[in-house]
Amino acid sequence: MFAVHLMAFYFTKLKEDQIKKVDRFLYHMRLSDETLLDIMARFQAEMQKGLGKDTNPTASVKMLPTFVRAIPDGSENGEFLSLDLGGSKFRVLKVQVSEEGKRNVQMESQFYPTPNEIIRGNGTELFEYVADCLADFMKTKDLMQKKLPLGLTFSFPCKQTKLEEGVLLSWTKKFKARGVQGTDVVSSLTNAMRKHKDLDVDILALVNDTVGTMMTCAYDDPYCEVGVIIGTGTNACYMEDMSNIELVEGDEGRMCINTEWGAFGDDGALEDIRTEFDQELDLGSLNPGKQLFEKMISGLYLGELVRLILLKMAKAGLLFGGKKSSALHIKGKIETRHVAAMEKYKEGLANTREILTDLGLEPSEADCIAVQHVCTIVSFRSANLCAAALAAILTRLRENKKLVRLHTTVGMDGTLYKIHPQYPKRLHKVVRKLVPNCDVRFLLSESGSTKGAAMVTAVASRVQAQRKQIDKVLALFRLTQEQLVGIRDKMRVELEYGLKRDTHPLATVKMLPTYVCGMPDGTEKGKFLALDLGGTNFRVLLMKIRSGRRSVRMYNKIFAIPLEIMQGTGEELFDHIVQCIADFLDYMGLKGAQLPLGFTFSFPCRQASIDKGTLIEWTKGFKATDCEGEDVVDMLREAIKRRNEFDLDIVAVVNDTVGTMMTCGYEDRNCEVGLIAGTGSNMCYMEEMRNIELVEGDEGKMCINTEWGGFGDNGCLDDIRTQYDKEVDEGSLNPGKQRYEKMTSGMYLGEIVRQILIDLTKQGLLFRGQISERLRTRGIFETKFLSQIESDRLALLQVRKILQQLGLDSTCEDSIVVKEVCGAVSRRAAELCGAGLAAIVEKRREDQGFEHLKITVGVDGTLYKLHPHFSRILQETVKELAPRCDVTFMLSEDGSGKGAALITAVAKRLQQARREN
Ligand code: BG6
Ligand code: BG6
Ligand code: GLC
Ligand code: GLC
Repeated sequence: MFAVHLMAFYFTKLKEDQIKKVDRFLYHMRLSDETLLDIMARFQAEMQKGLGKDTNPTASVKMLPTFVRAIPDGSENGEFLSLDLGGSKFRVLKVQVSEEGKRNVQMESQFYPTPNEIIRGNGTELFEYVADCLADFMKTKDLMQKKLPLGLTFSFPCKQTKLEEGVLLSWTKKFKARGVQGTDVVSSLTNAMRKHKDLDVDILALVNDTVGTMMTCAYDDPYCEVGVIIGTGTNACYMEDMSNIELVEGDEGRMCINTEWGAFGDDGALEDIRTEFDQELDLGSLNPGKQLFEKMISGLYLGELVRLILLKMAKAGLLFGGKKSSALHIKGKIETRHVAAMEKYKEGLANTREILTDLGLEPSEADCIAVQHVCTIVSFRSANLCAAALAAILTRLRENKKLVRLHTTVGMDGTLYKIHPQYPKRLHKVVRKLVPNCDVRFLLSESGSTKGAAMVTAVASRVQAQRKQIDKVLALFRLTQEQLVGIRDKMRVELEYGLKRDTHPLATVKMLPTYVCGMPDGTEKGKFLALDLGGTNFRVLLMKIRSGRRSVRMYNKIFAIPLEIMQGTGEELFDHIVQCIADFLDYMGLKGAQLPLGFTFSFPCRQASIDKGTLIEWTKGFKATDCEGEDVVDMLREAIKRRNEFDLDIVAVVNDTVGTMMTCGYEDRNCEVGLIAGTGSNMCYMEEMRNIELVEGDEGKMCINTEWGGFGDNGCLDDIRTQYDKEVDEGSLNPGKQRYEKMTSGMYLGEIVRQILIDLTKQGLLFRGQISERLRTRGIFETKFLSQIESDRLALLQVRKILQQLGLDSTCEDSIVVKEVCGAVSRRAAELCGAGLAAIVEKRREDQGFEHLKITVGVDGTLYKLHPHFSRILQETVKELAPRCDVTFMLSEDGSGKGAALITAVAKRLQQARREN
């Protein structure tokens, strides 16, 4: 009995002595709680640095955005291929996710070796090898005939700008293939796969193993928002608020960040805790100076650290009686699995003896105890360091969520964590001590990271399918060169129809003679009034023209025309106009003055002379009763009479296109075309009198108001009209009319966009499938919003703000789609307009028998002026479709009122001349 006690005492004493000895020797490796808290704080600062746009380039912890935005929600499904490369084992898998709505994942897999000559050889060969393994797997599993999406788990630091791309920043761990760093691994693998003609695989997602692990665990536990690997290497990812990720646009929701914490300390931040053993290990590694945190923690390095310590202790005579074996000198002879075996609770000591003996050493009992304790200190330090960094992440999560207590789950994987007998317990304990205000569940990923990668791929493939649907809709708005040529030629036919007496009555492009025959010659002078009705604004103007100098002084005032007046009775409308004139005269101090007046009236009028205009029909937003078929000049005169306050001499009624041409023509004599791309769309030009069959006489030229807005009203554009155009038409004030205008002008583009958005939402592709009240509201997209949304200078966030102002609660993805829709609709509008304009300038060139024509187009309208791309696309199209015309576009700065006044002045001059004759 006594002997037993004595033995026990002896053993305890022996153990104590050995432990003390090792503790003293490895004093520097034992980290106090304060040190751990300090490291935790340092890591918190590192994360912040990595997330900042300006600080990221110099940050050692790279905090890489992964473009994984949500954890699985159970709706994922399909069949996927998966590759898992970069951990201790390389696997190819087939993953079947959820059939018939159940959360269910089935996997079939095959391991393949990764010989050193492959992983440290030539990059091309590495990817070819991976592709070969994939092909082999597919053959054995009889998958060759299937086209399957693939998720690639690639456990190295990659810079991603989207899910299906990743530029390798640097190799870590055991890999060092040439020519891969700085290149996109997805395209490299895709290229390698091309060698296998029978392989039809689309790589949809690249994920880090930490991300895969988090997703795997999150499939079973929706609280999981962190993934940690403690295996060959070590690393962690977590869900960060988008608003904190400065490297990615958008601030909504969260995105998974791959911290690449293995590089913590690469800037010297951990020098105070690194030991001589860490330094020696680093020098002998494949990547000296890199992954310094990882080298204190992960499986690839722990065994080696133990070896270096044992060697040093032996040399110092503290172990094995000062004897060393040759095996102890060989790098890599002690592996992490040995460390784990030596630390086993019961068999540990026996294992230690066996392992040391295998290394050619002759360990005493005391040696075995000491070596076991070395292992404990090394692996304990590893767990402590991991715990400190993880605690920093958990604290960040808690602070992001502004919670007093965080309740969360951490997905775990990696051989060190899995096979080491004490590791998990220690790690959990230290984490809980460092962050007492977090309730953490540690969940072991049983099925590796590929299950999670398959979830990411499933979401990506759904997004891809949705993208296809969106593209299908947008494609309806894309016009080929051939189609545009066809439109130009059809327009040309319609122009000729409208000019000919026989075909004119049926023509959709009405080609209305305006009785404006000449340009101002500079001798015009006097004071004139002008009205400008039919565009966005109604204006009354006073113009003072000085002869000889081509200079005009203008005074004007904008008046509102309420909707109920635009769509009330004709009498009300004209009374309102006269009321505005009265106000203006009053305002200008011209009460009672009898001035000549030019009336810009931007609707189709049949004219028999310059001062007579019968409204054919209302267009755009006007619909006042009892006006169609009436002379608007008479209506205005009667309204003036009714008011009985002043008299005006109404000399001319002018379309806005004509006014615009005149305004510009006053400065550029080459200006023989007027174009409006505004609320409505129209064009006028100077035509040879001999071509105008409706008007007597063959001499000289006359301006023709084409009213091209009606182009297509006979169905000739039906092949390019979409369902959305038809919906817009049906909801308009003039269904079936002005079909070209409805595809090209500001009043309708927003409506087309709205119809598309409604349809995409119905298909579940936008706004989470919810059609809001606002989206149902006609007219919410004014031209100015379209212009703002499409502006290149606007960040996505601002687009989203505009949409929010419009009452559309959009995500960033939604905003991208809305912007694309706007772009497709406005591009088509500009191209259609360009095709129409090409028809006119070509006609003018041919009519005059010129090889080349130099011509100026006077332009006005909010769409042309405000939209960021419309004018450019319009001009490019004209150039393409009328290559023999040199067209200058001149923006009308002063509106068409000025032109109307000039026309009035010319008419006055001619009147005068007739009288004098
Ligand atoms: C596996 C994952 O379970 O763990 C891999 O599927 C990951 O993606 C690996 O890289 C990490 O552990 P180890 O020990 O193999 O590096
Ligand atoms: C103005 C002209 O500048 O532009 C108006 O003075 C014209 O006559 C208008 O109708 C066209 O643009 P919008 O966009 O106002 O319809
Ligand atoms: C290395 C890699 C990292 C990976 C980790 C675990 O640190 O750089 O991407 O997640 O190992 O495998
Ligand atoms: C409408 C009108 C037309 C006008 C154009 C631009 O198309 O019918 O007369 O020129 O809008 O305002």
